[in-house]
Amino acid sequence: MALTNDQNRFLNEWMEFLKIPSVSADPAYKKDVDSAATWVKNALNNAGCPHTEIIKTPGHPIVYGEYLIDSSLPTVLVYGHYDVQPPDPIELWDSPPFEPVIKATELHPEGAVFARGACDDKGQVFMHIKALEVMLSKGPLACNIKFMIEGEEEVGSDHLEGFVKNNKEKLTCDIILISDTGMISKKQPSITTGLRGLSYMEVTVTGPNRDLHSGLYGGSVANPINVLCEMIAQLKDEMQRITIPGFYNSVKELSQEVRNEMAKAPFDENDFKDSIGIKAVQGEQGYSNEERRTIRPTIDVNGIWGGYTGEGAKTVIASKAHAKVSMRLVPDQDWNEISEIFTKHFKSIAPAGVHIDVMTHHGGYAYVTPTETVGYKAAHMAYQDTFGIPPIPCRGGGSIPIVPMFEKELGVKSILMGFGLDSDAIHSPNEHYGVYNFFKGIETIPRFYHHYCNLVKEGN
Ligand code: BES
Ligand code: MN
Ligand code: MN
Repeated sequence: MALTNDQNRFLNEWMEFLKIPSVSADPAYKKDVDSAATWVKNALNNAGCPHTEIIKTPGHPIVYGEYLIDSSLPTVLVYGHYDVQPPDPIELWDSPPFEPVIKATELHPEGAVFARGACDDKGQVFMHIKALEVMLSKGPLACNIKFMIEGEEEVGSDHLEGFVKNNKEKLTCDIILISDTGMISKKQPSITTGLRGLSYMEVTVTGPNRDLHSGLYGGSVANPINVLCEMIAQLKDEMQRITIPGFYNSVKELSQEVRNEMAKAPFDENDFKDSIGIKAVQGEQGYSNEERRTIRPTIDVNGIWGGYTGEGAKTVIASKAHAKVSMRLVPDQDWNEISEIFTKHFKSIAPAGVHIDVMTHHGGYAYVTPTETVGYKAAHMAYQDTFGIPPIPCRGGGSIPIVPMFEKELGVKSILMGFGLDSDAIHSPNEHYGVYNFFKGIETIPRFYHHYCNLVKEGN
């Protein structure tokens, strides 16, 4: 793939962005998160966005930009995030997470940029900034564009919610455009039509009032770590169904027709297994692998700790054991209710001799994009133009809690035009984003604006 001068410049600028360790979860990176916000503001300015500002919040800042040309034309609001996940475990990276490098891979002979945030979501946000630059180089915009790029997505968008509630006028728009998801493959584009909800909990089991010698006391007290493992094991039955009473109350079964339609998407279970190095998939009985990871709710331990985990052996019964537990939810499940019934249930299954604490970290609702709207049709046409084949609508398994919140507060639907791949290793060591995907995004986004404005003009 021979790159033009502009394309080389885009790559270099993107790599500058990736050098800023904007880890939102860790207060040690606060300054870097701020400088990433400034970087995005400047990048928007340099691309030709005439009005940009940094909005302070009690947490990390929001970058806002607008290019308003005519209030009688439609307005597209672009949302994304400049914060990234922590890079840990750092020793598993082949090159340092904040020193981006381009490397060719089997899947990306044209090269992929390796760095934390390469795909999620700095690379995809930057596609939108460069798409603006490309559009402006060709003539005036066909609609108004607003940008809202936040710095707290990876930690639950705590302060964006308040900002949206208090700035409904400022954020008035007809459609929200987001690139923070993926597509099926480089050859087969898809549009994400759903996101799962989330309820993220932390539990602590406390036993004796201090760590104990496991010889002197072992066998006579409830060991918090053993207890925690037993309790977690009970959260799913042998059919891999979640045992929390009431958990499935508002889960709707999709019709066989919808499921058949979904099953047409070209997913290969063997490729799936090979891609993550497992010999067998596992999940709720009666559902396909794709259904299990998109339209069905699930529960997973994300971290578990307690006792002695250092070098060598220490004989000890820990006083406390902890776990972080997430539940992915589907439409109509209320994450606040789910957090409540989880808490109640988890406490109710505790054996005598331990004390249980449960706290909710954050959560969000599931989301579905209808495919009969002007926005969806425009996205469909844009991918079709770029890739030469129609994109397939696909439900996604991840969560972006701010998307259902936008719908509730602003009454506006979001179009999830993602260009990532499952193999990009987002949130994992060696995260990367294909140079091919990056430039396909920059090609497709202007086509979205073009089709969207035309469809609206034609009175659709
Ligand atoms: N961009 C992801 C979500 C995503 C990725 C959705 C790929 C669909 C396909 C986002 O940054 C993310 O990681 N979200 C978190 C939730 C958040 C509250 C921490 C998630 O899904 O775990
Ligand atoms: Mn993201
Ligand atoms: Mn993420």
